[in-house]
Amino acid sequence: MYKMSSAIYEEEDEPLIGGQRQISIGSLFSRRRTGFVAMICMFILIYLKLLLFFSALVESKSGMVKTVTPQINIPSRIKHSWAQYAPYFPVEDYRSPPSHCSITQVNILQRHGARFPTTSAGAMIQSSVAKLQAASSFKDPQLRFLKDYTYNLGVNDLVSFGAAQSYDSGQLDFVRYKGLIKGTNVPFVRASSSSRVVQSATNWTAGFAHASGGNSAPSLNVILQEALNDTLDDNMCPNAGSGDAQTNAWQAVYATPIAARLNAVVPHANLTASDVSNLISLCSFDTLANEKPSPFCDLFSQTDFDGFEYFGDLNKYYGTGYGQELGPVQGVGYVNELLARLTDTAVRDNTQTNRTLDADPATFPLGRALYADFSHDNQLAAIYSAIGLFRQARALNPTRPDPKRTWLASQLVPFSGRLVTERLTCSGRSFVRMLVDDALQDLKFCGANKDGLCTLDAFVASQRFSINDGDGDFEKCFS
Ligand SMILES: *[C@@H]1O[C@H](CO)[C@@H](O)[C@H](O)[C@H]1NC(C)=O
Ligand SMILES: *[C@@H]1O[C@H](CO)[C@@H](O)[C@H](O)[C@H]1NC(C)=O
Ligand SMILES: *[C@@H]1O[C@H](CO)[C@@H](O)[C@H](O)[C@H]1NC(C)=O
Ligand SMILES: *[C@@H]1O[C@H](CO)[C@@H](O)[C@H](O)[C@H]1NC(C)=O
Repeated sequence: MYKMSSAIYEEEDEPLIGGQRQISIGSLFSRRRTGFVAMICMFILIYLKLLLFFSALVESKSGMVKTVTPQINIPSRIKHSWAQYAPYFPVEDYRSPPSHCSITQVNILQRHGARFPTTSAGAMIQSSVAKLQAASSFKDPQLRFLKDYTYNLGVNDLVSFGAAQSYDSGQLDFVRYKGLIKGTNVPFVRASSSSRVVQSATNWTAGFAHASGGNSAPSLNVILQEALNDTLDDNMCPNAGSGDAQTNAWQAVYATPIAARLNAVVPHANLTASDVSNLISLCSFDTLANEKPSPFCDLFSQTDFDGFEYFGDLNKYYGTGYGQELGPVQGVGYVNELLARLTDTAVRDNTQTNRTLDADPATFPLGRALYADFSHDNQLAAIYSAIGLFRQARALNPTRPDPKRTWLASQLVPFSGRLVTERLTCSGRSFVRMLVDDALQDLKFCGANKDGLCTLDAFVASQRFSINDGDGDFEKCFS
């Protein structure tokens, strides 16, 4: 379980402790010492106050829940331009459903929390760092840290920041949806089998249980093997292409001038455009792993980060999103499972589902009030595209970003990013609404009203692509 490591979170309710100590210790010392001790105590008090301020409190009717995810002192505009390596942030304030509606079911689909770089990305990042460090002199004072810098990141696994994000999301989900969790109707939880995904799921259940005061303790019910049929991973379409052509084209545009700028201050480093993308991603990885602003972030401007954001946007769009012919079909299995839950009927799917698991009420129960599934960014992009979310009027242009695009990796698939599908009853009829990172989606494709509500029937009807098993695309994955 995520360790509430800093005692801070337990102490912040009792700031008086400092004040009392001031009196008792003060009497033992000379006046001057007393003044000094008082000053120290004041600093401690201010420090605790600031911590209290920065550690967000999740509101609930029955009180507050303390979040444990560390606050990192980097401007939001920058953190929110880290594409798929951005830490989760709510894109909008959560809007409660209209007062004549009540939520009857919640389906959470969530990306794992912050992690180390993957094995391949980590190797590339290290080679870019080595090029910088091999250079003999660092003219720019912002580069001096490189002399003593040692790359210390692991690979693939969740970092403790990511565990905390997952724990907090569990707490938040309990607070938001506790009205649904009655008696034995505990959440049903599944995870794709990567260890970072499994640990995100178990940290979520721990946060959920903690917020419930131990009254509702969900467990991870099913782990879907990534080598087998798995609706929470994008590993079942060998013929799917990649977005490399598009991301490389954009990288040449945005990162070549940055490489030239860095090479001018670090002669002989010979940085390429791809080194630039590696080093920008290190700003995020190093910051989130070490829970403090990385010196690598200081090497880049907001414009540089904006370029990196688009690099990530293209990667998701052309990797498994709308820009990939065989992208959306990889989300079909999950959508068919979602339709089964929303309509309380058996799963009907001929794509990625494990039919054995989905036919068994022990591993695919219907009639639950809350489901939580844990997955990966590429799979979330496939699922958004199978559903019809974030459809763009025009395909993303590899060399010219549209500033009005709504396909932003940092808002779609940040670390711990989430799609929440709520089923509601309003005046006796069933409706559906969807939120991505708390932003209510307009669901135009099923004729949603201004509250973002589609009737359940209209929503189901809008999912023809999934109901038809991807209109022949699944077969193209293999033929
Ligand atoms: C939470 O995640 C961390 C990894 O960062 C892991 O060590 C820990 O076991 C997880 N907690 C639970 C309850 O799974
Ligand atoms: C389906 O799930 C069962 C139960 O976990 C497992 O034994 C089987 O290998 C899985 N098959 C596929 C193709 O995923
Ligand atoms: C950069 O390129 C030059 C010329 O090709 C070469 O001599 C030098 O060793 C390279 N520097 C690094 C750090 O690879
Ligand atoms: C796994 O998926 C394939 C492709 O749809 C299907 O042929 C196979 O029957 C599935 N296996 C199970 C256990 O569901």
